[in-house]
Amino acid sequence: MQEILLEKLEREKVLSRSEFITLLGSRDKALSGELFGRAGRLRERYYGKDVYIRGLIEFTNFCKNDCYYCGIRASNGKVRRYRLTPEEILGCCRKGYDLGYRTFVLQGGEDMGYGPDEIAALVESVKKAHPDCAVTLSVGEHPREVYQRWFDAGAERYLLRHETADEAHYRSLHPSSCSPENRRRCLFDLKDIGYQTGCGFMVGSPGQTFEHLAEDLLFIHKLQPEMVGIGPFIPQRDTPFGDRRAGSLELTLFLLGVIRVMLPDVLLPATTALRTIHPRGLEMGMLAGANVCMPNLTPERVRRQYALYDGKECGESGTGTENMAPEEDEEAGQREALNDLRRRMEAAGYQVTAGRGDCRRMLMR
Ligand code: 5AD
Repeated sequence: MQEILLEKLEREKVLSRSEFITLLGSRDKALSGELFGRAGRLRERYYGKDVYIRGLIEFTNFCKNDCYYCGIRASNGKVRRYRLTPEEILGCCRKGYDLGYRTFVLQGGEDMGYGPDEIAALVESVKKAHPDCAVTLSVGEHPREVYQRWFDAGAERYLLRHETADEAHYRSLHPSSCSPENRRRCLFDLKDIGYQTGCGFMVGSPGQTFEHLAEDLLFIHKLQPEMVGIGPFIPQRDTPFGDRRAGSLELTLFLLGVIRVMLPDVLLPATTALRTIHPRGLEMGMLAGANVCMPNLTPERVRRQYALYDGKECGESGTGTENMAPEEDEEAGQREALNDLRRRMEAAGYQVTAGRGDCRRMLMR
């Protein structure tokens, strides 16, 4: 019966709030099958069987914010803080480039020690070293002028999850120093400046209801982002939400499918969190509608410290190969991780693709 809603979603690219709630509430095997079929066909129309890879560099875990769900929140005294130097970050990019990456995602907490000038200089040096690569920034909320500055420096993409589109829910996940208005302002500024913009949310964050998720989907329709990052909430023991339940794999996959049908040309990652809650989360994400994967290029000596949630998949080489310098060991590990990704994607009927992997919508503009 709810298949009619899917038909409508594909045709109109949006549903009413109450229709979204009905759709989410009537999930079953048959409906999911129909949804993933539509999502798969749409994804293929725009991107074929291609899977794009982004090299993720978590360059600082200092953060001035104190989000209740996040392991690198300011008041978590148990994380060892680190900040990579520009040279170290460029080193990660160089290794990533040799492995075939053509997009680098520079992600970090809102680190007061990395000012707007330093980040602009960093973007410039990455672009200078790798003019054929895209640089994606993911460093939180900033004034419009700062976003403009980084865009002018060569950053073309920006990830900033909206976290939840419901105001009261937003306030229940964040301290009062964070406001849903500023979050929204940032996202619309980013779009307006010309970034390929990514929003997104956690599935199953504490207190989340279908009503909230319906608002998230309506927000996505309104923003028309080029990228959407969603993954299950996973508790981190040293946060106020450390004892809450993780989000559902099944609901996450369903939402990936819904987002693909709403925005057929969107770049949609199978996120680390999805891969963390299920060993086959990557393949399942692709089958649901995802087309991006973001392997981690962060140096192994600090990787564990970027602990947003417990059990975060670190993709460690762990080869411990004797006679190998740690540096080479690390590169070997990353090469192996990428080969493993390639094999897994091929086994599932996809192919990891070289190239920047821009949103198809941008190329048509
Ligand atoms: N579980 C899952 N995702 C989380 N994030 C932060 N903390 C958690 C958690 N405990 C997500 C947020 C943030 C992104 C970088 O990581 O959505 O935007």
